[in-house]
Amino acid sequence: MCVCPLWQALSLWVIFSVHVVSEEGDYKSLQNFSQQCSNGQLDKALLPLQGISLFLTNDSGVMEHKNSTYIVDYSIDEDIPALLDVFSGRLPPLNISCIVDMQNHLNFSWDTSGVPEHAQYSVSYLLCRDGEKVLESPKERLPSPVFSTVLGNQTHQDHIILQLNVSYPGVWYIQTQKWEILTVEKLDPPQFINTTIQSDQLYLKWDLPKSKHTKNPSCFRYELRINDEVRYLSKKLSHSEPNIDQTRTYKIQMRVKMLSFPCRGSIYWSDWTSVLNLGPLILQPDFHIGVMVTIALGLPMSLLAILLLCKFRPIHQD
Ligand SMILES: *[C@@H]1O[C@H](CO)[C@@H](O)[C@H](O)[C@H]1NC(C)=O
Ligand SMILES: *[C@@H]1O[C@H](CO)[C@@H](O)[C@H](O)[C@H]1NC(C)=O
Ligand SMILES: *[C@@H]1O[C@H](CO)[C@@H](O)[C@H](O)[C@H]1NC(C)=O
Ligand SMILES: *[C@@H]1O[C@H](CO)[C@@H](O)[C@H](O)[C@H]1NC(C)=O
Ligand SMILES: *[C@@H]1O[C@H](CO)[C@@H](O)[C@H](O)[C@H]1NC(C)=O
Ligand SMILES: *[C@@H]1O[C@H](CO)[C@@H](O)[C@H](O)[C@H]1NC(C)=O
Ligand SMILES: *[C@@H]1O[C@H](CO)[C@@H](O)[C@H](O)[C@H]1NC(C)=O
Ligand SMILES: *[C@@H]1O[C@H](CO)[C@@H](O)[C@H](O)[C@H]1NC(C)=O
Repeated sequence: MCVCPLWQALSLWVIFSVHVVSEEGDYKSLQNFSQQCSNGQLDKALLPLQGISLFLTNDSGVMEHKNSTYIVDYSIDEDIPALLDVFSGRLPPLNISCIVDMQNHLNFSWDTSGVPEHAQYSVSYLLCRDGEKVLESPKERLPSPVFSTVLGNQTHQDHIILQLNVSYPGVWYIQTQKWEILTVEKLDPPQFINTTIQSDQLYLKWDLPKSKHTKNPSCFRYELRINDEVRYLSKKLSHSEPNIDQTRTYKIQMRVKMLSFPCRGSIYWSDWTSVLNLGPLILQPDFHIGVMVTIALGLPMSLLAILLLCKFRPIHQD
């Protein structure tokens, strides 16, 4: 009964492999995860490449390797998604994201649309430098499509490789993917060190963002949100905003990202800073008048009321 979708998948697989890359020996190169740091196939193209192996149950009910191939990220090729949609949603590759933050948290997560509901996931990762393995994590089973861990002192290492095994009855689907840590670094939000309003200028100054890869101020770009307006800034550590209305409050937020040029950019923005409120420096004139009028009229009226109250209060003394 359930042979049909599997055969559909398989024929799809053949079309797919021919369409993209098809090489004998793909299974060999992907088979031993420990050796993937030196597998140049994973980063030989300019486009993101994923190595994929598929195991299916054969006629004797044994899991057997069916095919392995390298696939270019489907988001780049318009022809591919249509083909992939045939298999109850979507067959490979899974959209895996990898983030490393400044506290050395490493997070992987992936999109599970199209994956059968009761699929199980297990992952393992490698840290590589100069094509050599520095660390290999044990295989870990996961209840949900997220994996977080804290890296040790090895985060200056160049690359990270994930092996994700998605398994459900009759199928093991194994995706191997490599990232350069530099390109998935998520910076901390910038730190303001001076924020002032002077005459009609708003003046902002911030610290050089901390990155594991550079101390060059030209490497960063920023988004600065002043109330509802956004300013795009780069290669600087201060900004002054003209035409400030000293009677207004300004809500200020900023975030940062590494520039692709002249540096090697990251694909992630930092979080936004928390909201900084500046101003008003002087109170609204109409507020002044309002207060004055209230005081001027209110004070004598209340005195009068108190006087009257005292005068006509019934006195019961025994
Ligand atoms: C994998 O697919 C390719 C392309 O269709 C084919 O040439 C190759 O024989 C297949 N390998 C296996 C082990 O099925
Ligand atoms: C995988 O490679 C490692 C390191 O080269 C080796 O020690 C191990 O025996 C290999 N495993 C398999 C199953 O080939
Ligand atoms: C199924 O796979 C096992 C292990 O690879 C093999 O020994 C067996 O002959 C296969 N059965 C069929 C029907 O292909
Ligand atoms: C992959 O996931 C990321 C974040 O979850 C998303 O921004 C991106 O558009 C996705 N790519 C595709 C091809 O779906
Ligand atoms: C990684 O995941 C942990 C736990 O879910 C979370 O606290 C942390 O903010 C995440 N880090 C990044 C960079 O996404
Ligand atoms: C990282 O290095 C510092 C100083 O060399 C050391 O104190 C710390 O324990 C190390 N952390 C890990 C996770 O290895
Ligand atoms: C994939 O996961 C299944 C279920 O956990 C496991 O039995 C199988 O050995 C894994 N396959 C590989 C090649 O790691
Ligand atoms: C902040 O910047 C303003 C404008 O340049 C300057 O007048 C002021 O002295 C600075 N304050 C500090 C604490 O650096």
